[in-house]
Amino acid sequence: MLLRELRASDVEQLVSIAAESGLSYWPPDGFISHFADTSALSKGIIAESGLAGFIVARLIPGETEALDAELLNIGVYPKFQGRGYGGLLMNAFIDFCTLSKVRKAWLEVRDSNQRARSLYSRFGFQEIGRRRGFYTDPTEDAVLMCLTFDHDED
Ligand SMILES: CC(C)(COP(=O)(O)OP(=O)(O)OC[C@H]1O[C@@H](n2cnc3c(N)ncnc32)[C@H](O)[C@@H]1OP(=O)(O)O)[C@@H](O)C(=O)NCCC(=O)NCCS
Repeated sequence: MLLRELRASDVEQLVSIAAESGLSYWPPDGFISHFADTSALSKGIIAESGLAGFIVARLIPGETEALDAELLNIGVYPKFQGRGYGGLLMNAFIDFCTLSKVRKAWLEVRDSNQRARSLYSRFGFQEIGRRRGFYTDPTEDAVLMCLTFDHDED
């Protein structure tokens, strides 16, 4: 098992992971333009010599000069779920936020997605709001979660 940077040649596999894990559709172009953002996070987890999961996140403006981060997508092939890979990908996200001295990290998750919500809570994310009927197929509320960092000033 290994974490590595995602690259353009991974896109077909990424679209397949997203589809199989039930994520909202991200077109291949969406991944390619995400990779063009050199400040963004794009990490994959390799297991049994193939891509088993991925995480993509980006830096966004915050309330102050410090940046915020947005977790855009995380997915693990169903057959690889429950092995701790989601946790490893979240660790990569926390490291990314720490290195960039992010103040707040944000994400949205389907109300019924208990597995993802429990993973996010374990990493300190708290529910701070809702977007009613935000998701379609099926229609469902989005839960907005936020994690506030307290980096030591040095
Ligand atoms: C959410 C997701 C990325 C987690 O990946 P994972 O590799 O299964 O993560 P982990 O093995 O680290 O486990 C994460 C949590 O799910 C729980 N879990 C894992 N497999 C499970 C199973 N078969 N049944 C119930 N819970 C399970 C783990 O106990 C863990 O809970 P904890 O955080 O309270 O300890 C993965 O389930 C996934 O791809 N889901 C579909 C896509 C998705 O919903 N993405 C998030 C969109 S916002």
